[in-house]
Amino acid sequence: MGIKEEYSRAGARLLAHVDNGTTDWAPSVRRVPVDDYLNAERWEAEMEAIFRRQPLLLALGIELPENGSYKTMEIAGRPVLLSRGKDGQVRAFLNVCSHRQAIVMPEARGKASRFTCPYHGWTFNAEGKLIGLADRQKFGEVDTAELGLVALPCTEKAGMIFASLSPDAEFDLDTFLAGFLADMEWLGLENWYYHATNEIRGACWKVVTDGFLEGYHFATAHPETINANTKSNIMTFDFFGPHQRVGFARQNIQEMRGTPEDEMWRSEGVHFSFVRFVFPNVAFSLSRKGGGTWTQIIPGTTSGETVAYQHIIFPKAPQTDAEREECQRVTDFYREVVTTEDFELGFRIQKGLESGAYKDMVFGRNEWGNQHHHASIDGYVVEPEPVRKRA
Ligand code: FES
Repeated sequence: MGIKEEYSRAGARLLAHVDNGTTDWAPSVRRVPVDDYLNAERWEAEMEAIFRRQPLLLALGIELPENGSYKTMEIAGRPVLLSRGKDGQVRAFLNVCSHRQAIVMPEARGKASRFTCPYHGWTFNAEGKLIGLADRQKFGEVDTAELGLVALPCTEKAGMIFASLSPDAEFDLDTFLAGFLADMEWLGLENWYYHATNEIRGACWKVVTDGFLEGYHFATAHPETINANTKSNIMTFDFFGPHQRVGFARQNIQEMRGTPEDEMWRSEGVHFSFVRFVFPNVAFSLSRKGGGTWTQIIPGTTSGETVAYQHIIFPKAPQTDAEREECQRVTDFYREVVTTEDFELGFRIQKGLESGAYKDMVFGRNEWGNQHHHASIDGYVVEPEPVRKRA
């Protein structure tokens, strides 16, 4: 089935759900142990089996627009440096100096044709080779060819940059994406405009991801913002391996009535919308028509904390001051809504989890996306393959 057909079918399902007072349904209610959110060993197992081993969506290509552009971040205790080389290719490295292990590039992003370590000044090029060893004659004999930055498996596809945090991890992106790539290709992200990033602190990473995967909470948690445009608790779910596309009916979806079903794909971003979730931690809330956010949910250093990078992107760059002001207004709006209406609620959920009041979270049949996410996590964590270490 092509993308247009998939989207048309989702649109038709959403319209039917509005008419019938229904939503897509999981086969049953699912309980997830509270311990799965709180237990430090479980959390470490998730970091090891998922975040340190599976391909992670670390950036969009438009964040590294020129040769020499770079971006850094830390995930699951691994500092990462993404760099677009002279040849235009993006490479990923552990952002750790081969001398005495200082972080080489502490800034979050920028442009540099070479990376100089702030401790003793060793310098690496954009391909990760050690090209300058300060006061070399006094240092003694070393083979600089062996002292480059540690490279990580990395691929740029459909405007997205994926990397694994384990240098020797198997990296088969097509298999991992399980057919979801066509959806992302449809967006054409390589030609979008990157505007800004909001950094927002949150609770446990799974509390945060839970909030992206259902619209059950729109009426009560977002009555004047999201629910003003989008109906609450009417959803479609399409799954691609551990990834998923969640459809939501806009309040104006009745305007779509009478559209031939095979033309309904044109209403995406107008009469219905999607959250596209790339496992384990990235949610796109946007359409080709109006832009929006893509959010990276990065677990903190314990099971109870997260930092989310909410990136604001648009299909086209603003051309006028008024358009630039609008981009900034949208940026501030998304930060405000997610901070005050989602993440603050998340901190209170965290308190509830830690209170010991209940043994399980209960996910309804209407919260199928959440159920699927937790089942996917279990699929990696329960009896994971042994982690492959560097030789
Ligand atoms: S730790 Fe980087 S140059 Fe010494």
